Amino acid sequence: MLQRPRRNRKSEVIRQMVQETHVSAANLIFPLFIVDGENQKTEVASMPGIFRYSIDNLLREVESCMKLGLNSFDLFPNIDEALKDKFATESHRDESLYLRAIRAVKKEFPEACVITDVAMDPYSSDGHDGIVENGQILNDETLEVLGKMALAHARSGADIIAPSDMMDGRVGYIREVLDDNGFTGVSIMSYSAKYASAFYGPFRDALNSAPKFGDKKTYQMNPANQREALIEARLDEAEGADFLMVKPALSYLDVIKLIKDDTELPVAAYNVSGEYAMIKAAVQKGWLNEQRATTEVLTSIRRAGATAILTYHAKEVLLNKWL
Ligand code: PBG
Repeated sequence: MLQRPRRNRKSEVIRQMVQETHVSAANLIFPLFIVDGENQKTEVASMPGIFRYSIDNLLREVESCMKLGLNSFDLFPNIDEALKDKFATESHRDESLYLRAIRAVKKEFPEACVITDVAMDPYSSDGHDGIVENGQILNDETLEVLGKMALAHARSGADIIAPSDMMDGRVGYIREVLDDNGFTGVSIMSYSAKYASAFYGPFRDALNSAPKFGDKKTYQMNPANQREALIEARLDEAEGADFLMVKPALSYLDVIKLIKDDTELPVAAYNVSGEYAMIKAAVQKGWLNEQRATTEVLTSIRRAGATAILTYHAKEVLLNKWL
C-alpha cells in the first residue's frame, strides 16, 4: 500500500496539523430572548440553559458573553399578547421593548455587534410573518411594515438587520428604505433559504409566537427543495444583501454548500432551537456526550461552508472551552 491515510491520524499533533475546519468565537452569533419587566430571567422549558431576559439582565448577559470573546448577538422579543395586532404596530413603536433593548445594548457596549430580527410574527395577533387578509398572507403590504421595522432598528443602533420573514422583494425594499434615510452603513443578513421546518417549535414556545391558524408553507420553503434555494439566494444578493443565511442548519448542510459555491458573500447558518433541544434532551438522558456532540455539530456547519453560525450553544462552548 502506497497510500495509508491513517498515517495522518496517528497522533494528536498530526491530527491537529491537518485539521481542515475550525470554529472560533469570531464565527459565533448568540441569539438572546428578551421580555419586559425588571430582574427577569426565566428558562425556556424546551431549551435548557436558554433564558428570557429583561433588559437589565440582558445587559449583564451580554457583558458575560463579551468577556468570553462572544461579541455578536441576535435579539428576539417575547411580546405581551395585549400589545399584538394585525399590523405588528408594536414592532416600530419608539418605546417598545425591542427598540429599548437595542439602544440599551449599543449604549453600554458600543463595540458589540447587534443583529436585529425583522419579521412580524412576535408582534402579530395572527402569529404570522405577514399581514393576513381572508386567511392569505399579503406580500407587498407586509413590505411596508418590514421597512418601518428595519428603519426603527437602524435608528436604535442596529449593526445588522436580519429579515426572517421570507416575503418576496423584502431585501431590496429594506435596503432602499435604509439608504433613503441615511443608513447606508447598516448591513442586511438575509434569511435567504428559510425552510418551513418542524425545528422552530421551541423558539415559538420561547416567544409565544406560533401561528394562530395554518402554517408558514406559503412563504417558508419546502424542505424537499434544494435548487429553489439558489433562486432565493441570488435574488437577495442582487437586492443588496451582505450575508446569505440558511435555516435550519443541520438538515440543510447541502443547501449551505450549494449557496456557498454560488456566491462570494459570506454565508451564515442558523442552528435552530429544535436542533439545540435535540442535543440537550439526549444529553439529559445520558445518551450523548455533550461536548463531543456539540462541537461536531458546529464543525459540520462550518465544514459545509458557513462563515457565521447563529447558535444557542455559542456561550456554553466558550465558557466550557470546548472549541
Ligand atoms: C420568525 C423566526 C423564527 C425563527 C427565527 N425567526 C421562527 C419561525 O419562522 O416561525 C426560529 C429560530 C429558532 O427556531 O431557533 N420570523
